[in-house]
Amino acid sequence: MTRRRARFPNGTRALFIGADRIMPKDSIKETAPLKTNVIYGGDCVAAMERLPENSVDLIFADPPYNLQLGGELHRPDNSRVDGVDDAWDRFDNFAAYDEFSRRWLKAARRILKDTGSLWVIGSYHNIFRVGSILQDIGFWMLNDIVWRKSNPMPNFRGTRFTNAHETLIWCAKDKDAKYTFNYEAMKNLNEGLQMRSDWTLPLCTGDERIKGTDGNKLHPTQKPESLLYRVLLAATKPGDVVLDPFFGTGTTGAVAKQLGRKYIGCERDADYIAAARERLALVKQVADDKLLSTPSKRSEPRIPFGTVVERGMLPPGTVLSDPSGRFTAKVRADGTLISAEHRGSIHQVGAAVQGAPACNGWTFWHVKMGKNLVAIDAFRQKVRAEMVALN
Ligand SMILES: C[S@@+](CC[C@H](N)C(=O)[O-])C[C@H]1O[C@@H](n2cnc3c(N)ncnc32)[C@H](O)[C@@H]1O
Repeated sequence: MTRRRARFPNGTRALFIGADRIMPKDSIKETAPLKTNVIYGGDCVAAMERLPENSVDLIFADPPYNLQLGGELHRPDNSRVDGVDDAWDRFDNFAAYDEFSRRWLKAARRILKDTGSLWVIGSYHNIFRVGSILQDIGFWMLNDIVWRKSNPMPNFRGTRFTNAHETLIWCAKDKDAKYTFNYEAMKNLNEGLQMRSDWTLPLCTGDERIKGTDGNKLHPTQKPESLLYRVLLAATKPGDVVLDPFFGTGTTGAVAKQLGRKYIGCERDADYIAAARERLALVKQVADDKLLSTPSKRSEPRIPFGTVVERGMLPPGTVLSDPSGRFTAKVRADGTLISAEHRGSIHQVGAAVQGAPACNGWTFWHVKMGKNLVAIDAFRQKVRAEMVALN
C-alpha cells in the first residue's frame, strides 16, 4: 500500500483537532470539562490520561492487531495482497504488545463511566491476549460477538481455513456495573427475534471505502459502518459520549454523529485524521430525535388485561389458547382466566398449564380471529397506541 508520511507541525508532538480548530496538546487540561466531537492527535494513552475520569459512556477500540506478517503475500494471479504491514501495527514481541494493551486498557477504564461499556475488536492474532488483560484489570465480559464476514478474503496459499471472522469483546467496567443494553432496539433490528452474538456483515468496500490520492484504499483496516451502527445502537443512548482510541478513518465518529451520539477520537496518523475530518463533515445527523430511541417496554404505560376485557376487545367467555392449541382457557368478567384445572391472571394460568415457573401471558395466549391466531398482546398494543395518541 502506498502510504503518505504522518506529519505534525514542527515542534508540536500532538494536536487537538476539532471540527474547525487545531490546538496544541498542552491546552488539554484534565480538569477542563469534556470536549466532544473532537479528534485528539498523537498517542491515545496520553490523550486519555488527560480526560476526566468517569466521563465517557462507551469506548469502541479497534487496536493494532500485531499481525506479524512474514513477507509479501500474493494472489494466484501474482498481484500483491494489500495487507496490514504498517508501522503502527508492529511490536517487537508479544510482551511489548501486552504492555501496550495494558496501558491503553487501564487509561480507558479510568475514563469510562460506571454505567459505560467497552468494546474491543480483534482477530486471532491479538484478541485472546487483549481479553486476558482486560479481565486482569477488572473489566467484566458481557459477550464475545463473532463478526462473520460475508465477503472474506480467501486464504490464497491454501494452507489454512479462510479467515472469515473477527471477534468483538463487549465488557462492563466491573461485575456489578449497570451498563446500557438496548435489548428492544436489537430485537427490533432483528425483526422481533432476540439478537444473537453472531453477526453477518460485509467488509467495508465500494464507495464507503476511503481512497487515497493514488486511488488505493487509504486505510488497511477501515471497519464497515454497519458494524458500528449495531454496536452503538445496542449499547448507547442518544446524546451519549463515544470514544475511539484508534480512530483511523473515523468510522466510529461517523456513525456516532449520524445516530445523535457525541464522539471523541484519538489517532496518531495525520493523514488518517485529515480523512476522518473530511468524512465527519459530510455526515448528517438523523434530524428527528424521536427516530433515534426505542422506548423500553418497561417505560410504556402499564395496561392490565382487565382493561382489554372491559373495553370489549376480549369479552368474558372468549376462549384463548396457546399457539399450538394444546392449552385453552376462558376469559372471566374480572380479567382473570379459568382453565380445566387452574384460575388466576393470564400469567399465572399460562405458567400453571405448562407446569412452568413463569409465563408472559400476553405472548402465550392467543385468540382465533378468522383463520388466524392472534396474540392477546396485540390488544394491549392497541390500547397503548390510543393512550399515546390522547397525550
Ligand atoms: C486498526 S486501525 C483502526 C481503523 C478504524 N477502526 C477505521 O475504521 O478506520 C488502528 C489505528 O490506530 C492508530 N494507532 C495505533 N497506535 C496508536 C496509538 N498509540 N495512539 C493513537 N492511535 C494509534 C493507527 O494509526 C490506526 O489508524
